[in-house]
Amino acid sequence: MYPANPAAETVPDGSRFIRACLRQPVDRTPVWFLRQAGRYMQEYRDVRKHHTLMEICKQPDLASEVTITAAEKLGVDAAIIFADLLLPLEAMGLDFEFQAGEGPVVHHPVRTADDVRALHTDRAAELVYVARAIEKVAAHFHNRLGIIGFCGAPYTLASYMIEGGGSRNYIHTKRMMYSEPGAWRLLLDKIATVLEDYCRMQVEAGADVIQIFDSWVGSLALADYRAYAFEASQRLVRAVQQMGVPVIYFGVETAGLLGEMASTGADVIGLDWRQPLDESWRAVGHSHAVQGNLDPITLFAPLEILEQRVHEILRAANGRPGHIFNLGHGIVPTTPVENVQAVVRMVREFRLEANPEKAHG
Ligand code: CP3
Repeated sequence: MYPANPAAETVPDGSRFIRACLRQPVDRTPVWFLRQAGRYMQEYRDVRKHHTLMEICKQPDLASEVTITAAEKLGVDAAIIFADLLLPLEAMGLDFEFQAGEGPVVHHPVRTADDVRALHTDRAAELVYVARAIEKVAAHFHNRLGIIGFCGAPYTLASYMIEGGGSRNYIHTKRMMYSEPGAWRLLLDKIATVLEDYCRMQVEAGADVIQIFDSWVGSLALADYRAYAFEASQRLVRAVQQMGVPVIYFGVETAGLLGEMASTGADVIGLDWRQPLDESWRAVGHSHAVQGNLDPITLFAPLEILEQRVHEILRAANGRPGHIFNLGHGIVPTTPVENVQAVVRMVREFRLEANPEKAHG
């Protein structure tokens, strides 16, 4: 299903991450970080002094600069394009803004079947600024790094549309899901349609991998995930794979959902930090790669503890092809940058042979 890679044996830096997504052997574990470009980094704060978050997202010069600066400063194996999960809402006809300290606010949330019917599905082209930014990042790195495009998963985006922002209990979302299954299905279907076009633009612009963020899927019981969210995610995963790139499917608090999330066919499953990596990988199944699973707040611990945790994760992965080192969720704003850089060093320098357990054969 994937294009043949003639350079596979030599493992140039840029393909280490992509090879790991496909569970091919690599010279060392690739590493990158969720929200690696963000407020914890001075360079990002400097750009933010002069521009809003939406301005950065919509100006390819700025979005590409922020993406490149973060990846180079950290020395990671992949760069995730600077954008936001909620951008497709605008193309579907919903206005929103980021309010300081409160996160995103959608002005007229989707609450009725008529609201669902009014959403546009033919305007993904408005998001072309993300593709332009990816082109600039790809031109800069010339295959030296993997380039990650992304979008939200249908369930997680639906929850923002219906709640009007972040939520604790997802009452409006689940009420629509349970009481208006026709409207719910139409909503997820419309979102998946837009995301397919959006992902295609990103792949055509040079994204090597697409990450689908189902950040709030952990709010669902397994039976409800199966009944109300799985199908739209699976459809999107398959559509993106047909475009010729691997898919990372990410969520948090998903210990009970991992096997089912893997059934979407995603190449890589994101793991949070609440279970040891080897246990989660067994639940996912070894025919998929995994990404994770350091607690982002470990980045505030003394270096010895941080190193212990990093090594525990690498030992739990045990050299099995298909592990990408990452956090279980995004870097938070006050994180010390030097500790993030220290983790990159620890991952680069780690050698399984020096440790008691035998490498996976
Ligand atoms: O390196 C990167 O990861 C940057 C690109 C990126 C951003 N948002 C920029 C951003 C990515 C991958 C996202 C994804 C995103 N956006 C998610 C999924 C990831 C996750 O954490 O599970 C979600 C849920 C969103 C929606 C969103 N955007 C929220 C909840 C917030 C937080 C609001 C706050 O003030 O903390 C945002 C804002 C946002 N998007 C920031 C960044 C760097 C915060 C910084 C700012 O205001 O400049």
